Amino acid sequence: MHLILLIACLFVFLVCCYTTYRHFTRISVADVPGPESSSWLLGNMPQLFGGQVGEAEFKWQEIYGGVVRIRASFGEDRLLVTDPKALQYIYQTSGYRFHKQSERIELTRLISGRGILWADGDDHKRHRKVMLPGFSSGEAKALLPLFLSKAAQIAAKWKDIIGATAEQSAVLNITAWASRATLDAIGEAAFDYRFGAMENVDNVVGTAYSNVFMDTFGSPSDASLLALSMLQYVPRCVREFLVDHVPSPGLEHIRHTAQVTTTVARELVASKSAALLQGKGSRDIMSLLVKANASENEKTKLNEDELLSQMRTIIMAGHETTANSFSWAVLELARQPKIQSRLRSEIRSMERMIQARGSYEFSTSDIESMPYLLAVVKEVLRFHPVSFNNFRQSATDDVLPLFRPITLRSGEVITELPVPKGMKVIISIAAYNRNKDVFGHDAHIFNPERWLNGSMRKPEAPVGAYANLLTFAGGLRTCIGWRFAVLELQAFLIELLSEFEFSLTPEATRIRREACIVMVPTVEGQREKGTQLPLRVSIASRDDD
Ligand code: HEM
Ligand SMILES: *[C@@H]1O[C@H](CO)[C@@H](O)[C@H](O)[C@H]1NC(C)=O
Ligand SMILES: *[C@@H]1O[C@H](CO)[C@@H](O)[C@H](O)[C@H]1NC(C)=O
Ligand SMILES: *[C@@H]1O[C@H](CO)[C@@H](O)[C@H](O)[C@H]1NC(C)=O
Repeated sequence: MHLILLIACLFVFLVCCYTTYRHFTRISVADVPGPESSSWLLGNMPQLFGGQVGEAEFKWQEIYGGVVRIRASFGEDRLLVTDPKALQYIYQTSGYRFHKQSERIELTRLISGRGILWADGDDHKRHRKVMLPGFSSGEAKALLPLFLSKAAQIAAKWKDIIGATAEQSAVLNITAWASRATLDAIGEAAFDYRFGAMENVDNVVGTAYSNVFMDTFGSPSDASLLALSMLQYVPRCVREFLVDHVPSPGLEHIRHTAQVTTTVARELVASKSAALLQGKGSRDIMSLLVKANASENEKTKLNEDELLSQMRTIIMAGHETTANSFSWAVLELARQPKIQSRLRSEIRSMERMIQARGSYEFSTSDIESMPYLLAVVKEVLRFHPVSFNNFRQSATDDVLPLFRPITLRSGEVITELPVPKGMKVIISIAAYNRNKDVFGHDAHIFNPERWLNGSMRKPEAPVGAYANLLTFAGGLRTCIGWRFAVLELQAFLIELLSEFEFSLTPEATRIRREACIVMVPTVEGQREKGTQLPLRVSIASRDDD
């Protein structure tokens, strides 16, 4: 009897020793300063995900710097990172050692399947290798006429609407127009396919996407934050099952969108693959994908599920992102009429130069020689990054280098931060884009001037693919479509600003930066109406030319 008791005591003692040993040897980030958490169950998550885009992150970055310790559910430590050197390490230097978070990746799978956004490591390398040739700078440049014509289509419709009003101006829901035009643009650009969303408001794909992010990710309840936290503790097959089957209105909407886009992708492939394999239309992205499906080489092969997922990924990633960026651009121009009219003058004077050489259409070199347009687009992408955070997790114990040293709670100052295996990192794209070390003391002010007056020197720790912004992420997983997006934004601004003047409505003075997976505009007090940007649009006068 005594012997059994002795053995039991010994066992408990050994377990205690082991857990204490683990506790002290496992690398901990508990000493990194960060906000207090008022709840063991949810940590700082309600603060982080409950407000508008950037609200919590801007405040914490101001107080604690480029690396902030925050708490998730059950007291788990996470890091919020906006330090340029740490980001460079996470996105580029570490290779695939900071992979996507296991529970978040399920949401990506739900939205766009097992495509490039979902894949990691060697799989991701394979997906990316197949896709890259379709997204080069040459491919993007060849799309300028398409982007201009989609914007011209909007312009024609707006002129009809405005022409029929007594006051020669109308309040228009900008996001609705932009999202239909960008859906049509990506269909033609990537698949040589006409969604017809501009012509037909009830187009199935456009309708399926309408407010899908808002319904699924807008203002998450405490229960859904907790559910997402708990997903990480269950095995992958259970995770997948739950995400695919749990009843929830938001998830239902996204499942419906997934079904609609998969059907469209399948029909498209069926109608075109024979011709594509014979080499017709071999330049577009879809033919790259169909050829990859037929490939014998394991390093460049996509199976059929991956092929369809890739098409859904491109439709999703290539449409609402650009549409919402355009909406934020126009909102900012409506807020600042001086910037708007200066940009319009630049566009019109370029138009006159183009006409003088006997042509009518802008070329990419015309755009390159429009400094103010380039500056405005950069500033919009900096200030309103529609993809505002990224989630990563370390695959091994690792060390994050820091651009700006941080002071631990113990008082120790460090320039490198050791992190344990499995450390979850939240990258705030929105807050990095306002980092004063990178963008200057007035980073919280919208001002295109910063791109023109020589204050943006060559960065010491470059991160993003474009203008050192994190808007298109960075490194190995940089947005593959960033050249398309920048050019499309430029084209839309050229066409629409040349013809129209945008001004604020009373609702537009109450726009919220709604935090769904994509940052969308909503009106304070009218969030139940979903995404909207109601601006007054009138024909821009030509008197001052
Ligand atoms: C202003 C518009 C856009 C923004 C702000 C944007 C932003 C981003 C960001 C932040 C990522 C990284 C996501 C992550 O790693 O989790 C990304 C990836 C991606 N984007 Fe974009 N994007 C835009 C437009 C486009 C367009 C027009 C396309 C396609 C035509 C596109 C296709 C993709 C794809 C395929 C990926 C996955 C890349 C990979 O994982 O290797 N994006 N985008
Ligand atoms: C504005 O347009 C969006 C499409 O982007 C649509 O979902 C929303 O319902 C529209 N809002 C209003 C008030 O018309
Ligand atoms: C993709 O490849 C599989 C097998 O390699 C084949 O059965 C299927 O028909 C292909 N799909 C298309 C759309 O070419
Ligand atoms: C350039 O513009 C930015 C943005 O307003 C400002 O912060 C900076 O001080 C300016 N630099 C110079 C040299 O004028």
